[in-house]
Amino acid sequence: MPTNSRMPERRRRNKVETELLERAHRCLPSGVRNPTGSADYAMVVKEARGSRLWDTSGNEYIDYLLGSGPMLLGHAHPAVVTAVREHLERGSTYLMVNEPAIELAEEIVKAIPCAEKVCFHSSGSESTFFALRLARAYRGRDKILKFEGGFHGMSDYALMGNQWTQEPRDYPQAVANSAGIPHAVEGEVLVAPFNDIEATTAIIDRHHDELAAVIVEPMQRTIPPASGFLEALREITGHHGIVLIFDEIVTGFRLAYGGAQEYYGVVPDLCAVGKSLSGGHPISVLCGSKEIMTNVDPAHATAGSYVAQTGTFSGNPISSVAALATLETLREEGTYERLFAIGRRLKESLQDMLDEAGIPARVSGEPPAFEVWFGAREITDFRSTLSADSAMHARFIEALLDRGILKAHEKFFVSLAHTDEDVELTLEAFTSTIEELAHN
Ligand SMILES: Cc1ncc(COP(=O)(O)O)c(C=O)c1O
Repeated sequence: MPTNSRMPERRRRNKVETELLERAHRCLPSGVRNPTGSADYAMVVKEARGSRLWDTSGNEYIDYLLGSGPMLLGHAHPAVVTAVREHLERGSTYLMVNEPAIELAEEIVKAIPCAEKVCFHSSGSESTFFALRLARAYRGRDKILKFEGGFHGMSDYALMGNQWTQEPRDYPQAVANSAGIPHAVEGEVLVAPFNDIEATTAIIDRHHDELAAVIVEPMQRTIPPASGFLEALREITGHHGIVLIFDEIVTGFRLAYGGAQEYYGVVPDLCAVGKSLSGGHPISVLCGSKEIMTNVDPAHATAGSYVAQTGTFSGNPISSVAALATLETLREEGTYERLFAIGRRLKESLQDMLDEAGIPARVSGEPPAFEVWFGAREITDFRSTLSADSAMHARFIEALLDRGILKAHEKFFVSLAHTDEDVELTLEAFTSTIEELAHN
């Protein structure tokens, strides 16, 4: 192991950060969450503003992790900070409905094509969990279908056949992604291959009278839907009266103001939105058709289909004002053009540089969220990602960190705070990183 003095600059930890890391290791059971999983790169974040983040030793990074996506406007955006600061003195949470929450619900109904009614929660896991329960209650059926490699949060139903799956089973059998999930739940989840409408249709046709819902990330991780895939899914679920749920926790307000359903032009029955909605404040949304959403209202639920939805912090005014300030900023002229221009430049340049260096790799996704797969053939579904060289990917992430570029494990998240200078510096870091990878 290199001694501290021989380490690249950004891997050196000062005394304060070293002590903080030791304290974290002592009391946080999952250890220290760090960008690579390697102890060399463990860091304690000191602060973040705009597109930049600093560790406690004073190293500065251009941030493409963005808190796993939420910081679409960049860190500590002045409009969000002001809105939150102004509201703080009026109390943080009331359980009861308040004006900012009502205004936010109205704005979501305007923004998201499927949204006629809205429920607030505090995390993506909660909203996808309630979406599935609501669909089961509405249909009076128990099973759900999800796509292999799709991530829908941490509930027992969601943690099946996701991107962490080591040994996939034959479709449609689910594999639990965590210990502690009752085996019975595996039997309630069917798994289909993303972007393969024939295989998916065959599974749905065989199980349609048991299926309450199909849940899908419209762009699965960073795999865009094949032409016609979402349309066909809409058609077959509609045909069998199965609820179609879009998990737009990542794509909501990121691919377009109306999310992936606006961007790809396919409207689901229910949708979960979170992350980019609220400038880094904990809130998520389940929204959808009046007919289904009405079942959370005891006065209007049909017999036996009432689903209680409550959460202590749901619809709190602080997250709501943060979201309203975020959405107001996103509605400004040219926002999405700018976001896509920044992302396109990074995504396309990365692919071009890898091609020129003769490193076989695919950059998948859409400009606001994309990923590189080393050595992989065309990326169309989870199984095509299994051929990617994960060791090379780890070296890529570490080499970028050494150059002050922080990316998420699974994605580059692009923000509106990334400047031309950030993009230039990132492209320089790509160039020297790729040279290093090509020669080692
Ligand atoms: C598509 C998707 N759904 C759900 C979730 C869970 O959201 P949260 O971490 O807010 O619970 C995530 C989190 O990354 C996600 O990417």
